[in-house]
Amino acid sequence: MVDADMLIPRPRLSTPGVGSFEITPTTRIAADDASDSVRLYLQQTLRGSTGLPVRDAETAGSDTIALRVGADDLLAGPAGSVEESFRLTVTTDGIEIVGGGAAGVFYGVQALLQLLPADVYRKGRVDAGPWTVPVQEIADAPAFAWRGVMLDVVRHFRTKAEVLRVIDQLAAHRINTMHFHLTDDQGWRIEIRKHPRLTEIGSWRRESQVGAHVADADGVLRPQAFDGRPHGGYYTQDDIREIVAYAADRFVTVVPEIESPGHVRAALAAYPELGVTPDQPVEVWTEWGIADDVLNAEDATIDFFKDVLDEVITLFPSAYIGVGGDECPKVQWEGDARTQARMRELGLADEEQLQAWIIGQLAAHIESQGRRAFGWDEILEGGTLSESATVVSWRGLRGATTAAKRGHDVISSPDDQVYLDYRQSDLPNEPIPVSIVLTVDDVFRFDPVPAGLTDAERAHVIGGQGNMWCEHVDSVRKLDYQLFPRVAALSEALWSADVTGPRDLADFSGRLAEHLARLEAMGIEYRHETGPFPWQERPGVPGRPHSREERAAYIDAVTANIAE
Ligand code: ACM
Repeated sequence: MVDADMLIPRPRLSTPGVGSFEITPTTRIAADDASDSVRLYLQQTLRGSTGLPVRDAETAGSDTIALRVGADDLLAGPAGSVEESFRLTVTTDGIEIVGGGAAGVFYGVQALLQLLPADVYRKGRVDAGPWTVPVQEIADAPAFAWRGVMLDVVRHFRTKAEVLRVIDQLAAHRINTMHFHLTDDQGWRIEIRKHPRLTEIGSWRRESQVGAHVADADGVLRPQAFDGRPHGGYYTQDDIREIVAYAADRFVTVVPEIESPGHVRAALAAYPELGVTPDQPVEVWTEWGIADDVLNAEDATIDFFKDVLDEVITLFPSAYIGVGGDECPKVQWEGDARTQARMRELGLADEEQLQAWIIGQLAAHIESQGRRAFGWDEILEGGTLSESATVVSWRGLRGATTAAKRGHDVISSPDDQVYLDYRQSDLPNEPIPVSIVLTVDDVFRFDPVPAGLTDAERAHVIGGQGNMWCEHVDSVRKLDYQLFPRVAALSEALWSADVTGPRDLADFSGRLAEHLARLEAMGIEYRHETGPFPWQERPGVPGRPHSREERAAYIDAVTANIAE
């Protein structure tokens, strides 16, 4: 039997009891109207793995798993909300899960599943059981409202079914936000009815770079190899609606991101008139890195992106809509007479202000429709961001500090703590090594709140997210390897970090060992302590490893313009 000491994330309060309750062929599920979708989730999960009928009960009583929403006696989560809080009570007679909202009931169900044998995560039956839960009471609530993972489906496309699988995995780890990176230089992955060439042209590239750039004799970084195969794909609007609905049933909000004013080459390949040099057409980029190609600042281009955002806003009910904003090179704007004239016309002093002006136009459009814009920490540059815009601090936590001090909400996603594309060890057989070593222990230590903030400033930090960039992640198996078990550590950091005090790595490692059996049962090919699987090794494919010192010096230099 599994007791509360073995849960990930660790519960705030747990009281062990005596005895146990066994789910048997007679056990039923009772749910109030508000918890009905959670009943279905629990029923499908239990029927699949246990083969037990777990039928509906009209009312809670003996031998039932009772699910309901009610505000009684729940711990308060972020900013006093109990929406995601729950109390799980196991007696010898049955189980009750009370949530502050349906989300809380769902998280209570996730705790219950972890208290059952790991085989409960299988989709087909094995000779397993008994399905016994120890008597106990657990009361829990999350530390942060935004518990996110960003998924990059541009650099390598993931099919709809593969995205749904990721959503299942995130939901099981109480990650409630999937930031969906849908557009970039290397592809455009969402159907936009008003501008069909975005996907007709922009969703495929001719081939893909293999591995990282390597410096030549003159120190210029160059790609070493290409795979010679077209790569692409996109989601129809029906696909998007399905993904959003599937995620909502699992209390995951899908938050879309449409990149601007850089990382737009796929859009420029489809509609060259959006760019600074329309007479020199570009193709959907086949390389990784930062392309010089950016949007021009004409009204028609802003209007085009507003059209795109209108369709995106209709498809995604999320409070937040992403405008991108990162890594926008200025070289095209600097060398272009039309852009310089436009800057004078708009009264903008430099290219940084032009970047801020474009972001400002798009953010205002999003806000005019009752949503909030969010973007990478470069949106702080230029200093004119609307107060409701929310900043994802990715180049360390400098952006988080500055944003919070300027009164913006913050999502912390520092690359040196939660970039899930970064290599997981120094081993020579690690697949295509990216940047610094970022272990599961490093992610476990992640605290989204930067040091040195006042209470009022701290309140702006609404949470954190891990970023799964996929330049070198070209299969589901590789995706599993990068995500897990680091997402389990992320889950703990974002859910219960504030109550665990100093992070107890030994305690977490013990619980993680138990958790790996759950991942195994889910069919996740997580990274084993002993290193990569042989098929993941890519001898001869160049990576770009850095030391922490090199990385820190670089980040310090490139964020100097957003220091407080
Ligand atoms: C980023 O990693 N370019 C946000």
